[in-house]
Parts: sequence; structure tokens; C-alpha cells
Amino acid sequence: MKVEALPVIKGDFNLKNYDEMYREFNWGEIEKQFSWSETGKVNMAYEAIDRHAQGERKNKVALYYRDPSREEKYTFKEMKEMSNRVGNLLKQAADVEKGDRVFVFMPRSPECYFTILGAIKLGAIVGPLFEAFMEGAVKDRLEDSAAKVIVTTPELLERVPLEDLPALKHVVLVGENIKEEGPIIDFYTRMKSASKDLEIEWVDRNDGLILHYTSGSTGKPKGVLHVHNAMVQHYQTAKWVLDLKDDDVYWCTADPGWVTGTSYGIFGPWLSGVSNVILGGRFKPETWYQTIEEYGVTVWYSAPTAFRMLMGAGDELVKQFDMSSLRHILSVGEPLNPEVIRWGMKVFNLRVHDTWWMTETGGQTICNYPCMEIKPGSMGKPIPGIKAAIVDDQGQELPPYRMGNLAIKRGWPSMMYTIWNNQAKYESYFMPGDWYVSGDSAYMDEEGYFWFQGRIDDVIMTSGERVGPFEVESKLVEHPAVAEAGVIGKPDPVRGEIIKAFVALRDGYEVSEELKDDIRNFVKKGLAAHAAPREIEFRDKLPKTRSGKIMRRVLKAWELDLPTGDLSTMED
Ligand code: WT7
Repeated sequence: MKVEALPVIKGDFNLKNYDEMYREFNWGEIEKQFSWSETGKVNMAYEAIDRHAQGERKNKVALYYRDPSREEKYTFKEMKEMSNRVGNLLKQAADVEKGDRVFVFMPRSPECYFTILGAIKLGAIVGPLFEAFMEGAVKDRLEDSAAKVIVTTPELLERVPLEDLPALKHVVLVGENIKEEGPIIDFYTRMKSASKDLEIEWVDRNDGLILHYTSGSTGKPKGVLHVHNAMVQHYQTAKWVLDLKDDDVYWCTADPGWVTGTSYGIFGPWLSGVSNVILGGRFKPETWYQTIEEYGVTVWYSAPTAFRMLMGAGDELVKQFDMSSLRHILSVGEPLNPEVIRWGMKVFNLRVHDTWWMTETGGQTICNYPCMEIKPGSMGKPIPGIKAAIVDDQGQELPPYRMGNLAIKRGWPSMMYTIWNNQAKYESYFMPGDWYVSGDSAYMDEEGYFWFQGRIDDVIMTSGERVGPFEVESKLVEHPAVAEAGVIGKPDPVRGEIIKAFVALRDGYEVSEELKDDIRNFVKKGLAAHAAPREIEFRDKLPKTRSGKIMRRVLKAWELDLPTGDLSTMED
């Protein structure tokens, strides 16, 4: 297919010549910028906040926060002091030490960001949890990582099964009128008396920083561990890909429960010393445009689902706001439709730059750069310092236009360090030739642009969130009426995919709309709203292999009216 490339919109970009940089760049140069080059030790929170708080950016706004009930701003100096206070609180009241897992389970708020940074200052490993998670999902994550502390709100505490989590020693509650008893610690009262000076824990670059749980096609979510060394890539991609400069006002719409919301909602922008906008509350097109107008957002990082919803809200709406501050727009999480790029050109007069990466890569990997032509539909080219290729199942590189595994040569700075408690799982990502295999299929064209084709496994991407079918199936079969369940992603124009469940009922249960709703709510309450199947179809029997595995591939073929392929392993 021939696509019309979008030319570069002229400007003074940090990355001026992609090809030249790709040939010449090596990470060693960048590493010299961080404190470990002198002391051997480092701390992400120091590099992101304290470093600026001590210098010229001291009184510059680091955080603009806004939700329907609050509007606040904090300078780098204030961010340093607030995160120091949380650090002291966690150390004194909750006994947090280097390497401890501290979970942060609360809606986006300034306190959420102070806490993440404060815990990092102690050398703790932060486990951010999306606020929509329900009890089952919370339990799995805290249990697997043997979390010692959780920082949460009184409302969300109901979803933390304290009695099932013996390793969990302290619960810090961010709320009003908290009574300290048992494991409970009152955040606001303790913050008042906590010192704003803190001795930072200096760590090795390969010490743990953050633990993001993410889904695969089999088994429970796995804990992807990132280390402080990732800062090298966060910093450099914030330069090249986000194109951040000192006077930028940057807004990343992602929640820190997902990797985009930490790597590029916290680390990338603050390592670069820019003003960072955080919008709390729920998605609303008016509020989003208002945020850009009010703060004068210049660089905006969001996701295809959000762009599609904005597009759906109509061009009349966007015209009511002043979007002239915007100069650079980026997208991540799912395939970026050429249609969205065309819409972006129409309403913002800007190109939307697609970026491809994943929880495991920790940082942007294949991207479109302001200085490079965009081919709508393509994810772009690997960042300098990274080698990406399309390989076959033996790890042999394939020529242009051949579809295969999208793979990256092992050893980029923000690569996951391990899978928590599961080194074997970590190793299973790699193929001969030192290739990290992403699970995505793609091809490369003759100019080196990469084109996404699909997931090789059954992982579902719904509204930019990654959902493992197995986790949903496991929850479904806990419902008293459900005998068996198979879960697939079904293409959807707005959400990318929606979750569809095929369900076989136990004897004695009758098919009904009420039962469907009940099953859907059961998953909503047990896992998370975004993991609940929007569509449920009842079947007498599900296609299974002789060894009893549900054949999702066959379910998908039924759904999409496609050939079912090889059925030799299917039971009679
Ligand atoms: C999967 C990773 C790290 C960002 C958020 C998602 C899909 C991601 C793109 C893109 C097509 C994309 C892939 C990938 N994906 N970006 N630009 N075009 N697909 O992180 O939850 O770890 O999911 O998201 O399938 O493997 P994640």
C-alpha cells in the first residue's frame, strides 16, 4: 500500500538529523550526565526533582495539578520538600528500607506523586496500582511482590484484603479523620510533623525502582521490574522523542498505574526539568481541551483511544478552545489510525507522532520524530542506540516487507531488569541472537519504517490497556453459573478492541440478560471495570484442545468469520 508521507513541520528540534544520530550515538555519552558518573551511586528522585530544586529551576513550577475539586501547583523546591516529608513519614512510621515494596493505590493527586517520589528516595521499589483495580487484582499483585506497605485512601482500602496479606505491615491512609490503630498510619497528620529534610538513599544503577504488573496471554499478571538505570533512556527519549525544552509545558494523560504514566508522566519530564501537568478525574473532552488552553500545554502525549473519543466529540467543540500553545503531539498504546493523524492535521495543524514500546521495554523504542517524515500507519524507526528488527521464530532477521516477530537487540538502558519472582519468565522473552521478542508482529519497509500488524499472542489491548485473557477467564469461572469461559479481543472502532467472553453455563442455569449482567458485574467487582467483558455470548460447549486448553484462536475465527485453521489438536 502506498501512503502519502507527511513532511516535517519546520522547527528547532533537539534531534536534528535522525540518520546521522542513529549511526553515531552511543549511550556512554549520556550516562556521564548523571550523578553516578562521579560517585558510582544514583537515585532517580534526586535526578528528577532535587537536582533542579537546588539550582536555577528551584522556583519553577514542576507540577500543575487539577481535578474537579482541586487546582494546585508546586515548584521543584516544593516537590523536593513534599517528597522528603513522605520519605520521612514512610521511614519513621512504616519502617521502609531500601528494596522494600511500597504500593501506591490511589487516584491521581499531588499526594500520589509525592509518595512515589518519596518512596524512591528511600531506595524502595514502588508498585503503582491503577485505582480501578478491585480486590482480586490488588491481592494478586501485593501477594506476588510481598509488599510491606500500601499507601491508599479510606475508600480504596476496602479492596485491600489485609487478612490475606501477611507480608503487608503498614497501611498509610490518605484521607480525613484517620484513626491510627493496628497497621493504619494517618498520612496528613504525620506529614505535618515530618521534616522537609531527608537523607537520600543512594543506590546502584541496577537497584529496583518500580514494579509494573502487566498481562500476558497465560497466567497471572507478571511483575516487570525496572531499575534506576532506566533514567538514561527516559532522559534521552524525553529529548529526542518528546522534544522537551526548558520552557515547555508538558502533559501526559496516562495514569501512573501504567508504565506510560511513570516513564513519561514522572521520570522523562522531570529529568528534563519541565513543568508537568497532571489532570485528575475522569475523561471529558471539554476538560481536556480546557487543560491545554489553561496551562498553555506545548507538548501533549496521549493514546489513540483518547484521540478517537475527542474526534467523536466533534470539531465544533475543539474550536471553542485556544489550542495555539500546542507544538508537538504524541501517541502510544495501540495502533494509531491514519484517520486520527488526518484529524490532528485538521484541528491542530500538527502531526500526531506515534511511538511504540511496552511495559517491558521501559521506555520509548520505535518512534516518529519531529525531524522525520511520518508515514501514517507506521510506528516509525528505532531510537538511536537501539537495534530493532523483524525476525523469524529462529531469530533470523527477515528482509523488508516480510512479516515476523518485532524484536529488539538485548541491552538498552530502560530494559526490564527481571520479572519479579520469575527469572524463567524473564528468560522466555529472549531468542537466539540476543533478541528480545515483543509478542507483536510487524514488518519493516525498505526505508526502515516499522509497521505494526498485530499481537502474536492473545493479549487484548482495550482502550490502550493491556488485559490478559487468562486473568479474565479465571475470574469468570469463579462465578457460580460459569462452567467454562474463553476470552478474546474483538475489534472496535473506538476502543481498539473490546473484551468478548464466550461462556458455557453449568447445568441448571438458564441463559438470560440478567445473568449476563450479573457475570459482567462479577468481573467488574473482582478484577477491574476495564477487564469486564462488554460482550458475553453463551455457548453449549467451547472449543478445546485434547489437553483441555480453550482455543481462543477458534473463538476469534468464529467471531470474525475467518477460517478456523488447523483443528487437529481440538477435542472431538
Ligand atoms: C503493547 C504493550 C508502553 C505504552 C503503553 C502500552 C501495543 C503499544 C503501540 C503502537 C501499535 C502498540 C503493542 C505492545 N502497543 N504501542 N504505537 N502501535 N501497538 O504498554 O501495556 O505494556 O502494552 O501495546 O501490542 O506490545 P503495554
